[in-house]
Amino acid sequence: MKSFLQEVSFGLSKKNKKLSSKWFYDFKGSKLFEQITKLKEYYPARTERKILKDNKIEIANKIGKGAVLIEPGAGDIKKIEIFLSSLDKPKKYIPLDISEDYIIKISQSFKKKFPKVAITPKGYDFSGSDKLPFKINSSENIIIFFPGSTIGNFEKKDAVKFLKMLKMKFKAKKIIIGADLIKDIPTLISAYNDKKGVTAKFNKNILQRMNTELGTNINLNFYQHLAIYNKSKKRIEMRLKAKKNNNIRINGSKYSIKKNEEIHTENSHKYTIKSFRNLANEAGWKVKKTWVDDKKLFSVHFLDLGL
Ligand code: AVI
Repeated sequence: MKSFLQEVSFGLSKKNKKLSSKWFYDFKGSKLFEQITKLKEYYPARTERKILKDNKIEIANKIGKGAVLIEPGAGDIKKIEIFLSSLDKPKKYIPLDISEDYIIKISQSFKKKFPKVAITPKGYDFSGSDKLPFKINSSENIIIFFPGSTIGNFEKKDAVKFLKMLKMKFKAKKIIIGADLIKDIPTLISAYNDKKGVTAKFNKNILQRMNTELGTNINLNFYQHLAIYNKSKKRIEMRLKAKKNNNIRINGSKYSIKKNEEIHTENSHKYTIKSFRNLANEAGWKVKKTWVDDKKLFSVHFLDLGL
Protein backbone atom coordinates (compact mmCIF):
# COMPACT_ATOMS: atom_id res chain seq x y z
CA MET A 1 0.00 0.00 0.00
CA LYS A 2 1.24 3.49 -0.88
CA SER A 3 2.01 5.57 2.17
CA PHE A 4 0.25 8.78 3.17
CA LEU A 5 3.42 10.68 2.24
CA GLN A 6 3.64 9.09 -1.24
CA GLU A 7 -0.03 9.70 -2.02
CA VAL A 8 -0.04 13.28 -0.76
CA SER A 9 3.13 14.14 -2.71
CA PHE A 10 1.65 12.62 -5.86
CA GLY A 11 -1.76 14.25 -5.38
CA LEU A 12 -0.33 17.73 -4.83
CA SER A 13 2.04 17.53 -7.80
CA LYS A 14 -0.87 17.14 -10.24
CA LYS A 15 -2.37 20.01 -12.22
CA ASN A 16 -5.76 19.27 -10.69
CA LYS A 17 -4.75 18.63 -7.10
CA LYS A 18 -6.33 15.65 -5.45
CA LEU A 19 -6.15 13.80 -2.13
CA SER A 20 -7.96 10.53 -1.44
CA SER A 21 -10.90 10.60 0.98
CA LYS A 22 -9.55 7.48 2.67
CA TRP A 23 -7.07 9.73 4.49
CA PHE A 24 -9.90 11.41 6.40
CA TYR A 25 -10.10 8.41 8.68
CA ASP A 26 -7.55 8.47 11.46
CA PHE A 27 -8.94 8.21 15.01
CA LYS A 28 -10.03 11.86 14.99
CA GLY A 29 -11.51 11.68 11.48
CA SER A 30 -13.47 8.55 12.38
CA LYS A 31 -14.86 10.37 15.41
CA LEU A 32 -15.82 13.34 13.21
CA PHE A 33 -17.54 11.02 10.77
CA GLU A 34 -19.47 9.49 13.67
CA GLN A 35 -20.62 13.05 14.50
CA ILE A 36 -21.64 13.63 10.87
CA THR A 37 -23.93 10.60 10.99
CA LYS A 38 -25.85 12.27 13.83
CA LEU A 39 -26.36 15.61 12.05
CA LYS A 40 -29.84 16.75 11.07
CA GLU A 41 -28.69 17.46 7.50
CA TYR A 42 -26.98 14.08 7.00
CA TYR A 43 -30.06 12.01 6.12
CA PRO A 44 -28.21 8.87 4.76
CA ALA A 45 -27.26 7.43 8.15
CA ARG A 46 -30.62 7.64 9.92
CA THR A 47 -32.58 6.71 6.78
CA GLU A 48 -30.50 3.60 6.19
CA ARG A 49 -30.81 2.65 9.86
CA LYS A 50 -34.60 2.84 9.58
CA ILE A 51 -34.61 0.73 6.40
CA LEU A 52 -32.47 -1.93 8.11
CA LYS A 53 -34.67 -1.88 11.21
CA ASP A 54 -37.97 -2.05 9.36
CA ASN A 55 -36.78 -4.99 7.26
CA LYS A 56 -34.52 -6.87 9.66
CA ILE A 57 -36.52 -10.11 9.60
CA GLU A 58 -36.52 -10.29 5.82
CA ILE A 59 -32.82 -9.38 5.77
CA ALA A 60 -32.08 -12.12 8.31
CA ASN A 61 -34.00 -14.65 6.19
CA LYS A 62 -32.00 -13.70 3.13
CA ILE A 63 -28.71 -13.96 5.01
CA GLY A 64 -29.53 -17.46 6.28
CA LYS A 65 -27.91 -19.70 8.87
CA GLY A 66 -24.36 -19.62 10.26
CA ALA A 67 -23.35 -16.36 8.62
CA VAL A 68 -19.78 -15.15 8.49
CA LEU A 69 -20.29 -11.41 8.25
CA ILE A 70 -17.51 -9.18 6.97
CA GLU A 71 -17.90 -5.42 7.09
CA PRO A 72 -15.25 -3.44 5.14
CA GLY A 73 -14.95 0.11 6.51
CA ALA A 74 -17.02 -0.76 9.57
CA GLY A 75 -16.42 2.58 11.34
CA ASP A 76 -18.54 2.84 14.47
CA ILE A 77 -20.12 -0.64 13.81
CA LYS A 78 -23.56 0.60 14.78
CA LYS A 79 -25.53 -0.79 11.85
CA ILE A 80 -24.81 -4.52 12.06
CA GLU A 81 -26.33 -4.47 15.52
CA ILE A 82 -29.73 -3.68 14.03
CA PHE A 83 -30.14 -7.16 12.55
CA LEU A 84 -27.41 -9.26 14.19
CA SER A 85 -29.71 -10.52 16.95
CA SER A 86 -32.32 -11.52 14.32
CA LEU A 87 -29.87 -13.86 12.55
CA ASP A 88 -29.94 -17.63 12.81
CA LYS A 89 -26.77 -18.64 14.69
CA PRO A 90 -24.32 -16.18 13.14
CA LYS A 91 -20.78 -17.57 13.35
CA LYS A 92 -18.39 -14.69 12.94
CA TYR A 93 -18.34 -10.96 12.55
CA ILE A 94 -15.20 -9.37 11.11
CA PRO A 95 -15.28 -5.55 11.16
CA LEU A 96 -12.52 -4.06 8.99
CA ASP A 97 -11.40 -0.46 9.09
CA ILE A 98 -8.45 1.58 7.85
CA SER A 99 -8.21 3.06 11.37
CA GLU A 100 -7.04 0.01 13.34
CA ASP A 101 -6.94 1.63 16.80
CA TYR A 102 -10.45 2.97 16.28
CA ILE A 103 -11.99 -0.33 15.19
CA ILE A 104 -10.33 -2.28 17.97
CA LYS A 105 -11.52 0.16 20.60
CA ILE A 106 -15.09 0.34 19.24
CA SER A 107 -15.32 -3.48 19.07
CA GLN A 108 -14.60 -3.97 22.77
CA SER A 109 -18.09 -3.20 24.06
CA PHE A 110 -19.63 -4.90 21.05
CA LYS A 111 -17.97 -8.20 21.97
CA LYS A 112 -19.70 -8.12 25.35
CA LYS A 113 -23.11 -7.65 23.74
CA PHE A 114 -22.76 -10.65 21.43
CA PRO A 115 -20.74 -13.24 23.36
CA LYS A 116 -21.79 -16.11 21.07
CA VAL A 117 -20.42 -14.50 17.90
CA ALA A 118 -16.67 -14.59 17.25
CA ILE A 119 -15.84 -10.91 16.73
CA THR A 120 -12.40 -10.20 15.28
CA PRO A 121 -11.78 -6.56 14.29
CA LYS A 122 -8.88 -5.90 11.90
CA GLY A 123 -7.13 -2.85 10.50
CA TYR A 124 -7.46 -3.14 6.72
CA ASP A 125 -7.53 -0.76 3.74
CA PHE A 126 -10.14 -2.32 1.46
CA SER A 127 -9.34 0.11 -1.35
CA GLY A 128 -5.85 -1.35 -1.70
CA SER A 129 -4.58 -4.76 -2.74
CA ASP A 130 -3.12 -5.97 0.55
CA LYS A 131 -3.50 -9.59 1.59
CA LEU A 132 -6.51 -10.24 3.82
CA PRO A 133 -5.60 -10.14 7.52
CA PHE A 134 -7.66 -13.31 8.23
CA LYS A 135 -8.32 -16.74 6.69
CA ILE A 136 -11.27 -17.37 4.39
CA ASN A 137 -13.09 -20.69 4.31
CA SER A 138 -14.96 -20.55 1.01
CA SER A 139 -17.47 -23.23 2.08
CA GLU A 140 -18.90 -20.86 4.71
CA ASN A 141 -21.92 -18.58 4.32
CA ILE A 142 -19.85 -15.44 3.66
CA ILE A 143 -21.83 -12.20 3.61
CA ILE A 144 -20.40 -8.77 2.98
CA PHE A 145 -22.14 -5.94 4.78
CA PHE A 146 -21.29 -2.64 3.08
CA PRO A 147 -23.70 0.03 4.34
CA GLY A 148 -23.54 3.82 4.41
CA SER A 149 -23.22 4.29 0.64
CA THR A 150 -19.46 3.91 0.94
CA ILE A 151 -19.71 2.38 -2.55
CA GLY A 152 -20.51 5.95 -3.64
CA ASN A 153 -17.01 7.07 -2.67
CA PHE A 154 -15.58 4.97 -5.52
CA GLU A 155 -15.35 6.09 -9.14
CA LYS A 156 -17.69 3.87 -11.21
CA LYS A 157 -14.95 1.64 -12.60
CA ASP A 158 -13.44 1.19 -9.14
CA ALA A 159 -16.88 0.35 -7.71
CA VAL A 160 -17.19 -2.47 -10.27
CA LYS A 161 -13.66 -3.65 -9.44
CA PHE A 162 -14.47 -3.60 -5.72
CA LEU A 163 -17.69 -5.61 -6.13
CA LYS A 164 -15.80 -8.16 -8.25
CA MET A 165 -13.06 -8.32 -5.63
CA LEU A 166 -15.62 -9.21 -2.94
CA LYS A 167 -16.44 -12.31 -4.96
CA MET A 168 -12.87 -13.27 -5.88
CA LYS A 169 -10.88 -12.40 -2.78
CA PHE A 170 -13.42 -12.49 0.07
CA LYS A 171 -15.32 -15.42 -1.55
CA ALA A 172 -18.56 -13.61 -0.74
CA LYS A 173 -21.82 -15.35 -1.62
CA LYS A 174 -24.11 -12.46 -0.74
CA ILE A 175 -23.87 -8.71 -0.19
CA ILE A 176 -26.07 -6.32 1.78
CA ILE A 177 -25.19 -2.86 0.51
CA GLY A 178 -26.45 0.69 0.94
CA ALA A 179 -26.55 3.23 -1.90
CA ASP A 180 -27.60 6.85 -1.63
CA LEU A 181 -30.22 7.95 -4.17
CA ILE A 182 -30.31 10.93 -6.53
CA LYS A 183 -32.63 13.62 -5.18
CA ASP A 184 -33.12 17.39 -5.13
CA ILE A 185 -29.81 19.23 -5.11
CA PRO A 186 -30.33 21.42 -1.98
CA THR A 187 -30.94 18.30 0.15
CA LEU A 188 -27.80 16.70 -1.26
CA ILE A 189 -25.64 19.76 -0.76
CA SER A 190 -26.72 20.53 2.80
CA ALA A 191 -25.94 16.92 3.79
CA TYR A 192 -22.29 17.72 2.92
CA ASN A 193 -22.26 21.30 4.15
CA ASP A 194 -23.85 21.27 7.59
CA LYS A 195 -24.54 24.40 9.60
CA LYS A 196 -22.38 23.32 12.56
CA GLY A 197 -19.35 22.93 10.31
CA VAL A 198 -18.62 19.31 11.28
CA THR A 199 -18.20 18.24 7.64
CA ALA A 200 -15.83 21.18 7.10
CA LYS A 201 -13.70 19.95 10.02
CA PHE A 202 -13.85 16.40 8.64
CA ASN A 203 -12.69 17.64 5.23
CA LYS A 204 -9.88 19.70 6.78
CA ASN A 205 -8.78 16.74 8.91
CA ILE A 206 -6.74 15.64 5.91
CA LEU A 207 -4.70 18.88 6.23
CA GLN A 208 -4.52 18.41 9.98
CA ARG A 209 -3.09 14.91 9.44
CA MET A 210 -0.51 16.31 7.03
CA ASN A 211 0.57 18.75 9.74
CA THR A 212 0.86 16.11 12.45
CA GLU A 213 2.09 13.15 10.39
CA LEU A 214 4.06 14.72 7.54
CA GLY A 215 5.40 17.78 9.33
CA THR A 216 3.70 20.35 7.09
CA ASN A 217 2.78 23.71 8.48
CA ILE A 218 -0.57 24.38 6.81
CA ASN A 219 -2.78 27.08 8.27
CA LEU A 220 -6.20 25.42 8.19
CA ASN A 221 -7.85 28.86 8.11
CA PHE A 222 -6.33 29.40 4.66
CA TYR A 223 -8.74 26.78 3.29
CA GLN A 224 -12.47 26.76 2.78
CA HIS A 225 -14.61 23.62 2.74
CA LEU A 226 -16.63 23.21 -0.47
CA ALA A 227 -19.34 20.69 -1.37
CA ILE A 228 -20.78 20.92 -4.88
CA TYR A 229 -23.09 18.61 -6.85
CA ASN A 230 -21.64 17.54 -10.20
CA LYS A 231 -24.82 16.95 -12.23
CA SER A 232 -23.24 15.12 -15.13
CA LYS A 233 -21.29 12.71 -12.92
CA LYS A 234 -24.16 12.46 -10.40
CA ARG A 235 -21.96 13.01 -7.40
CA ILE A 236 -21.18 15.34 -4.55
CA GLU A 237 -17.59 16.54 -4.74
CA MET A 238 -15.82 17.86 -1.68
CA ARG A 239 -12.94 20.19 -2.17
CA LEU A 240 -10.66 22.47 -0.15
CA LYS A 241 -10.37 25.91 -1.71
CA ALA A 242 -7.35 28.08 -0.93
CA LYS A 243 -8.31 31.55 0.32
CA LYS A 244 -4.81 32.87 -0.41
CA ASN A 245 -1.58 31.84 -2.10
CA ASN A 246 0.35 29.46 0.13
CA ASN A 247 3.12 26.91 -0.02
CA ILE A 248 3.05 23.39 1.38
CA ARG A 249 6.50 21.96 2.13
CA ILE A 250 6.83 18.22 2.46
CA ASN A 251 10.04 16.26 2.70
CA GLY A 252 12.15 18.84 0.85
CA SER A 253 9.54 19.51 -1.86
CA LYS A 254 7.47 22.64 -2.18
CA TYR A 255 3.93 22.69 -3.56
CA SER A 256 2.54 26.13 -4.40
CA ILE A 257 -1.19 26.52 -4.02
CA LYS A 258 -2.69 29.57 -5.68
CA LYS A 259 -5.51 31.67 -4.26
CA ASN A 260 -8.87 30.08 -5.32
CA GLU A 261 -7.17 26.83 -6.33
CA GLU A 262 -9.09 23.76 -5.20
CA ILE A 263 -7.84 20.45 -3.87
CA HIS A 264 -10.34 17.68 -4.58
CA THR A 265 -10.83 15.43 -1.55
CA GLU A 266 -13.92 13.26 -2.06
CA ASN A 267 -16.54 12.00 -4.50
CA SER A 268 -19.85 10.69 -3.24
CA HIS A 269 -21.80 9.18 -6.13
CA LYS A 270 -25.57 9.03 -6.06
CA TYR A 271 -27.58 6.31 -7.78
CA THR A 272 -31.04 5.43 -9.03
CA ILE A 273 -32.35 1.93 -8.29
CA LYS A 274 -31.74 1.13 -11.95
CA SER A 275 -28.23 2.56 -12.19
CA PHE A 276 -27.25 0.66 -9.04
CA ARG A 277 -28.62 -2.59 -10.51
CA ASN A 278 -26.60 -2.01 -13.66
CA LEU A 279 -23.48 -1.46 -11.59
CA ALA A 280 -24.03 -4.71 -9.67
CA ASN A 281 -24.69 -6.62 -12.90
CA GLU A 282 -21.50 -5.31 -14.45
CA ALA A 283 -19.60 -6.82 -11.53
CA GLY A 284 -21.36 -10.20 -11.91
CA TRP A 285 -23.87 -9.78 -9.05
CA LYS A 286 -27.68 -9.96 -9.15
CA VAL A 287 -29.82 -7.57 -7.09
CA LYS A 288 -32.44 -9.86 -5.59
CA LYS A 289 -34.18 -7.33 -3.38
CA THR A 290 -34.16 -3.57 -2.87
CA TRP A 291 -35.55 -1.75 0.15
CA VAL A 292 -36.12 2.02 0.21
CA ASP A 293 -37.63 4.50 2.68
CA ASP A 294 -40.97 6.28 2.09
CA LYS A 295 -39.31 9.41 0.71
CA LYS A 296 -36.96 7.40 -1.56
CA LEU A 297 -33.90 9.06 -0.08
CA PHE A 298 -31.78 5.93 0.31
CA SER A 299 -31.66 2.31 -0.84
CA VAL A 300 -30.44 -0.98 0.62
CA HIS A 301 -29.88 -3.92 -1.74
CA PHE A 302 -29.47 -7.65 -1.32
CA LEU A 303 -27.14 -9.15 -3.93
CA ASP A 304 -26.26 -12.74 -4.70
CA LEU A 305 -24.45 -14.49 -7.49
CA GLY A 306 -27.69 -15.60 -9.15
CA LEU A 307 -26.64 -19.26 -9.11
C1 AVI B 1 -18.42 7.32 4.13
N1 AVI B 1 -19.14 8.00 3.06
C2 AVI B 1 -20.21 7.15 2.53
C3 AVI B 1 -19.60 9.35 3.39
C4 AVI B 1 -20.39 9.95 2.22
O1 AVI B 1 -21.51 10.38 2.42
O2 AVI B 1 -19.86 9.95 1.10
C5 AVI B 1 -18.43 10.25 3.75
C6 AVI B 1 -18.83 11.67 3.99
N2 AVI B 1 -18.26 12.71 3.47
C7 AVI B 1 -18.82 13.81 3.91
N3 AVI B 1 -19.82 13.48 4.70
C8 AVI B 1 -19.83 12.15 4.79
